[in-house]
Amino acid sequence: MGLGSTPTAVLRDEHRLILEVADALDQLFAVEPGGAALDFDAVDRCITFFRLFADACHHTKEEDLLFPELERAGLPHDSGPIAVMLNEHEQGRVFVRAMADAIETARTGESSSLADLRAAADGFVSLIVAHIAKEDGVLFNMADGMIVGPECRELCAAYDTACSRRFEGQSKEDLERLGAAILG
Ligand SMILES: [Fe+2]
Repeated sequence: MGLGSTPTAVLRDEHRLILEVADALDQLFAVEPGGAALDFDAVDRCITFFRLFADACHHTKEEDLLFPELERAGLPHDSGPIAVMLNEHEQGRVFVRAMADAIETARTGESSSLADLRAAADGFVSLIVAHIAKEDGVLFNMADGMIVGPECRELCAAYDTACSRRFEGQSKEDLERLGAAILG
């Protein structure tokens, strides 16, 4: 089945790369617990990837396209799985902003900033792994059953349009290349 054949295939595909980069971020911190050999440039690339690919490109399609379609099909906005997912997206933004805020001073060797950076990275990785498991295992299965026929085709066309946007000047393909470069 192609990525345009179900209401969640494109999103599930993006989840795979997000999880791989989350694992790479986790490993960057695991290599040297003292932080002396932390690869700040690689961490910085992960921050950019999560901000632009995971949030601007991916979460935006969920929030602006998939979730409203699920609401039209009968799911509530302010309770249940959509409310939980929206709340977790916001928690993720807080963690990514905290990483961005801490990294420059952490680079200079400031130990409390390094601790903040590590805590935000740990928090983000734990959050996104659990979050994607819930979407892939629960909400997206519901969506696959609820959004069919013309609604499904329209949603997939809207994903294509959203994916062809630029995210701070970068295409989705640029960001996928960034993810691949992080994975080495
Ligand atoms: Fe997602």
